[in-house]
Amino acid sequence: MSEKVKVTIDGITVEVEPGTSILNAARQIGGDIVPPAMCYYSKLEGSGGKCRTCLVKVSKGSEKDPRPMPKLVASCRTGVMDGMEVENITSPEVIEARKGVVEMLLINHPLDCPICDQAGECHLQDLSYEHGVEKTRYEFERRTFDKIDIGDKIQLHMTRCILCYRCVYVADQITNNRVHGVLGRGDASEISTYIEKAIDNDFSGNVIDVCPVGALTDRTFRFKNRVWFTKPVDAHRDCPTCKGEVTLWYKGEEVLRVTGRKDQFGEVADFICNTCRFETKKTSDWVIEGPRHIAKTSVISSNHYEMAKPLDVIKHNPILIEANKEEFERATKI
Ligand code: SF4
Ligand code: FES
Repeated sequence: MSEKVKVTIDGITVEVEPGTSILNAARQIGGDIVPPAMCYYSKLEGSGGKCRTCLVKVSKGSEKDPRPMPKLVASCRTGVMDGMEVENITSPEVIEARKGVVEMLLINHPLDCPICDQAGECHLQDLSYEHGVEKTRYEFERRTFDKIDIGDKIQLHMTRCILCYRCVYVADQITNNRVHGVLGRGDASEISTYIEKAIDNDFSGNVIDVCPVGALTDRTFRFKNRVWFTKPVDAHRDCPTCKGEVTLWYKGEEVLRVTGRKDQFGEVADFICNTCRFETKKTSDWVIEGPRHIAKTSVISSNHYEMAKPLDVIKHNPILIEANKEEFERATKI
């Protein structure tokens, strides 16, 4: 195995494999310093480089060539170098640029969160709370589209789409003989309706899970409930098509929807098949494992109580262990 390289992000140093992107190095550290990512998805080859939400400042290029990079770079597409120093939340320039990116993403995106099924688990909603401004400077007419039913289970709201291409990659990487993608360029771009042709595939429902906004929604769940009123539970079944490991979203005794299991970066661990997602919604179809872990910053976690878990980076650094002594003691007591 090749020698690891050292990179420092917001003052925290981590050793990673050569070729790792800055974003993935930051994910190895975890916590607030991880740049937001609206288009990159580690399970989808070729994803990233579209939305610019993951911009960071490289203040030192490497040990060999310490010159800073002249412009902010997309952390999902920039590899680390040995001795590199990166600023994310410690750089006012990055925060300012991210505000601009959010403003641009919101140019056409409707603020219909009160009626959108993605509300409560929408990455753009979170990003807007963190970096958005109260008013838009945009004075022109916004783009609007009719809703398109992609088969009987999925609906496309192109009006909400931020053109991250994730659904295109899902569609592309689960079938190999289909034409699909983004039609048009610039402000005329839209997800091609050819994507409808992907829908016969057993894994097509995964476009719902990867969509960072409410552009692709589950028609079997639409308007049934607000996600923060549901109870997520991990469950599995013996499925011949996929791994069968899912999250069931309960309201009372009823399973309202089934999704893949998402990690702290909002990515599913394993893509699930349409039978698991749409056809098996009885508790008796599943072996229940237990309550799903939900990040405490998420609105879905309201009324869910969990033991405090210190970040990995803290557990291995004596200075940080000392600084977080109280939290460690509390965690042991609980
Ligand atoms: S529909 Fe969703 S996943 Fe597809 S490009 Fe638009 S925002 Fe991305
Ligand atoms: S996540 Fe890096 S450009 Fe979108």
